Amino acid sequence: MSKIPIILIGGGGHCRSVIDVIESENRYHILGILDFPEKVGEKVLGYDIIGTDSEEELKSLLPKCENFLLTIGQVKSANLRIKLFDRIHKIGGKLPTIISPLAKVSRHAQIGEGTVVHHFACVNANAIVGKNGIINTAALVEHDAIIGDHCHIATRATANGEAQVKKGSMLGSHSCLLPTVVLPENSLLAAGSVLTKSPDQSGVYIGQPAKRLQK
Ligand SMILES: CC(C)(COP(=O)(O)OP(=O)(O)OC[C@H]1O[C@@H](n2cnc3c(N)ncnc32)[C@H](O)[C@@H]1OP(=O)(O)O)[C@@H](O)C(=O)NCCC(=O)NCCS
Repeated sequence: MSKIPIILIGGGGHCRSVIDVIESENRYHILGILDFPEKVGEKVLGYDIIGTDSEEELKSLLPKCENFLLTIGQVKSANLRIKLFDRIHKIGGKLPTIISPLAKVSRHAQIGEGTVVHHFACVNANAIVGKNGIINTAALVEHDAIIGDHCHIATRATANGEAQVKKGSMLGSHSCLLPTVVLPENSLLAAGSVLTKSPDQSGVYIGQPAKRLQK
């Protein structure tokens, strides 16, 4: 079966992780990567950086490739990934869902467009994961959990049963949302932290049990 062309946006560390997932899935052929102008001509794991992510360049690539994927990481803010996601939609591009063959996604779960489920992640029965998400290596989205659009569930983080991560938020590496707990929009649960109660305002939550970081 011939592979489907895809172009990646963002050539850093997260991109290298996504490339490994795409290669393992073996459905897409990576035509190239878009990054800053000064990076054009460099390579990432053997794939060429072929241009930048300006609207004009994205449009000019459409005739040979309609599929794009965001491969920039997300920690403190989802804004850049949201901006680029909207730009791809605006020019008429598509954002496929990529699932590692080493991940377990329940047939009763839903995964939105542009979301990547990395190696050894588990998305269990009745869970919903929104658009443009990162379900990173070995992350766990338990039964009935709801992960909003533009969220990052980092390496080995856990959203337990019926927990919710609202739009634009992140569970840091090894963090844990207890069952039914809701992390508000545009928030971050710090690496290794455990959120035991649903906060009523957005922010950075840190510690065990996690408390809002006062700036
Ligand atoms: C919460 C976080 C964003 C804070 O980053 P920051 O604003 O740059 O803060 P700093 O690193 O300057 O740390 C500030 C203080 O908080 C402490 N701290 C930072 N992160 C912490 C964490 N996850 N748990 C406990 N303490 C933490 C630091 O030790 C430091 O303490 P000090 O003031 O006593 O020295 C960051 O540490 C974090 O957890 N990021 C998520 C990383 C991650 O999971 N990446 C995904 C990989 S796939």
